[in-house]
Amino acid sequence: MSADLGFVHRYVPGEDESGPTLLLLHGTGGNEEDLVPLGETLAPGAAFLSPRGKVSEYGAPRFFRRLAEGVFDHEDLLFRTHELAEFVQAASEEYGFDASKVVAVGYSNGANVAASTILLHPGLLRAAVLFRAMVPFEPDLAPDLSGMPVFLAAGRMDRMIPPHNTQRLADILLEAGADVDLRWRDTGHPLTYEDVAEAKAWLSDVLPKLS
Ligand code: MLT
Repeated sequence: MSADLGFVHRYVPGEDESGPTLLLLHGTGGNEEDLVPLGETLAPGAAFLSPRGKVSEYGAPRFFRRLAEGVFDHEDLLFRTHELAEFVQAASEEYGFDASKVVAVGYSNGANVAASTILLHPGLLRAAVLFRAMVPFEPDLAPDLSGMPVFLAAGRMDRMIPPHNTQRLADILLEAGADVDLRWRDTGHPLTYEDVAEAKAWLSDVLPKLS
């Protein structure tokens, strides 16, 4: 664990310095350790950069403030998204990983801040795996996400994230030109083995194509 670069975080070097780095973004109440095992399952040998969300909701770390469940503090979301983008850039200089091969893997609140980063900093992330994501904000102008691979895994019975909201996020990304792969399952908010297996297969196709 390191508190440098503005975020408490964990960095795990990859087997190949020029390989991809997974930016692991935990859900509400998680921390920088949470998704490292998931990263190891999804992309063995990749580097992992795993920050802890800086907002505390009654002690539960998050990546941005919310006013109620599913109602986001827009100003804080924008501020925290820029802060996270700066952290990723600073971390690539500090650790020497290839900044052009950063792939986000986020769950719930972590997926939402990843989606916000995609919309506000197009080009920072080469690809993204978003588990249980929703629309972070409606962009005024669609960014250019031409060809960006994005995998979304959603639950039809998710009580935190209404299905139409994930569908809207997929539509926003599609309209911006992203190559969206949206998978639906008859499941709720928690991650399932099937989600992980599908994301792993998707990544094994996408990661070798990053150059
Ligand atoms: C959020 O606040 O980002 C979503 O409601 C998901 C969550 O509860 O973390």
